[in-house]
Amino acid sequence: MDRIKQVLKYYYNIEVTNIQSQQGGWASLAYKVSNEKHSYFLKVYEKSRASTPKLTERIDAYVPIINWLYRNSDLKESISVLLLTTEGNYKCEDDEGVYLLYDFIEGTTIGDRVLTEKQIQQLSEIIAHLHLYGEEISVKTESIKEDFSVPFLEFFKEILNSNNEHMAIDIREIVSCYKTQINRLVRIVEKLAESLQLSDLRMALCHTDLHYWNLMESQDKLIIIDWEGLKLAPVEADLMFLMDKPYFNTFLKIYQDTHENFELNHEALHFYQGRRKLEDIGEFLEQLIFDSLSEQERMNTIDYLDEELRSISL
Ligand SMILES: Nc1ncnc2c1ncn2[C@@H]1O[C@H](COP(=O)(O)OP(=O)(O)O)[C@@H](O)[C@H]1O
Ligand SMILES: [Mg+2]
Repeated sequence: MDRIKQVLKYYYNIEVTNIQSQQGGWASLAYKVSNEKHSYFLKVYEKSRASTPKLTERIDAYVPIINWLYRNSDLKESISVLLLTTEGNYKCEDDEGVYLLYDFIEGTTIGDRVLTEKQIQQLSEIIAHLHLYGEEISVKTESIKEDFSVPFLEFFKEILNSNNEHMAIDIREIVSCYKTQINRLVRIVEKLAESLQLSDLRMALCHTDLHYWNLMESQDKLIIIDWEGLKLAPVEADLMFLMDKPYFNTFLKIYQDTHENFELNHEALHFYQGRRKLEDIGEFLEQLIFDSLSEQERMNTIDYLDEELRSISL
């Protein structure tokens, strides 16, 4: 906790008196830090985790675009915005972690709950609005442009083609059990990627991680948080999170008020669904192989992995 106080003082010139651990996301720790004047939300990516470099390397590329949206679009009240260090940097770090600081949003995370009609309306309007913006905006979007690359390719090749003696026996068994299915999914996603690379689908700003743990409600307003996946991409990168929802038709109607004649591209949709599965499987395996997890974390991760692997076998 002293470390957090030091980081806030040194990099943000903020003295905090209260630090409360929060339920963070999948990849980072989270704290509510406050003094008598203000509350902040501090996100900490531990350097000991295998996923941290990949998750923090994009910060400098995407934050200027979020800031642009904050200043130039109607999304100001619907997005969470990062606070800068006294030197004007988006993140800071010490030996143990990479730190990001936000204003604390007083509200609730949608998480396991369902959206109300009003929230469905708000979500549809926010996403429709976000997708209005593309590469023509006045900040550079090149570095967040979709390249249709397939994640964990080398990693999968390596673990699928070796006897994995360094792995714990239960993980090795899971991998060998699902070898064929993982290989098949990799091939399908690679093929879709090749085809999409040659297509000229319109690309727009997309959040790309639109699950309900990234939606918060505050004073009757829906706020989308966790913009670390921001990309210039075919809009199916976002719509894939909504298409299985019971309200998808309502969503689409509202969406089409802004994007007339919009039609889903099924190739892009399948690509994003498949790639997301590979990403999740790769990340779970990476955690199980490289991170030091507690027994409970390990069990949870194996359950998630099992669920994903079973879903690609259908
Ligand atoms: N600015 C904020 N104020 C209050 N709570 C927040 C804020 N940002 C995130 N949270 C809470 O912390 C959780 C994890 O944050 P998130 O940014 O999604 O991290 P991760 O990248 O690890 O998923 C969210 O589900 C939400 O409940
Ligand atoms: Mg999140």
